[in-house]
Amino acid sequence: MLVQVPNVLTPDEVAKCRALMERAAWDDGKLTAGDQSAVVKDNQQVRYGTPEQKELVELVLMALGRNPLFITASLPLKIFPPMFSRYHPGQSFGTHVDNAIRNVPNTPHRVRTDVSATLFLAAPEEYDGGELVVEDVYAAQRVKLPSGHLILYPTSSVHHVRAVTRGTRLAAVFWVQSMVRDDGQRTILFDLDTAIRNLRSSSADQNPSVVQLTAIYHNLLRRWADA
Ligand code: NI
Repeated sequence: MLVQVPNVLTPDEVAKCRALMERAAWDDGKLTAGDQSAVVKDNQQVRYGTPEQKELVELVLMALGRNPLFITASLPLKIFPPMFSRYHPGQSFGTHVDNAIRNVPNTPHRVRTDVSATLFLAAPEEYDGGELVVEDVYAAQRVKLPSGHLILYPTSSVHHVRAVTRGTRLAAVFWVQSMVRDDGQRTILFDLDTAIRNLRSSSADQNPSVVQLTAIYHNLLRRWADA
């Protein structure tokens, strides 16, 4: 499932990220790509281990931690530290799949990539092209969101970033190892959780079925989750 998570960052936080990116050191994005994707990857990334990179990562992880929609949609167990990328005119990231396992740089830790995330850091009117295109079950979805908004999609999806033709595309990308590995099971849990929240916010709040449905949600989560 594809899920849009609006307003992960406030406008102030977006501005802060952009100021940090402005003065950061940049590397060729191929440095962190797998063998197949390195061939088609043409962008730049904020250099790993620099003070700016650490501050950017911390800012985004804090914002994710306080976002209920991100948590309910991805059920995070581990989050790979976000990578901050930019695409100038002519740059793109051709069709590829993301590696299933990623080593967290300079640590012994690994993250299984269940959910991919792109957090947009430039406003859509600042650049042309640069859409994220995700091959969904039924059709290709083109995604270009306001700055501060996030898209989540299953990492099993083939995807690409269309060439930028004007301006600069800025984004953070990262991966989630979910407590629930299977996208189908995560989708059922997300749909159920959304329905329960809607019921609770309506006059049906007092209905005893809300408790029953909540119990079903947690029993499914207990059956399917690794924690
Ligand atoms: Ni990718």
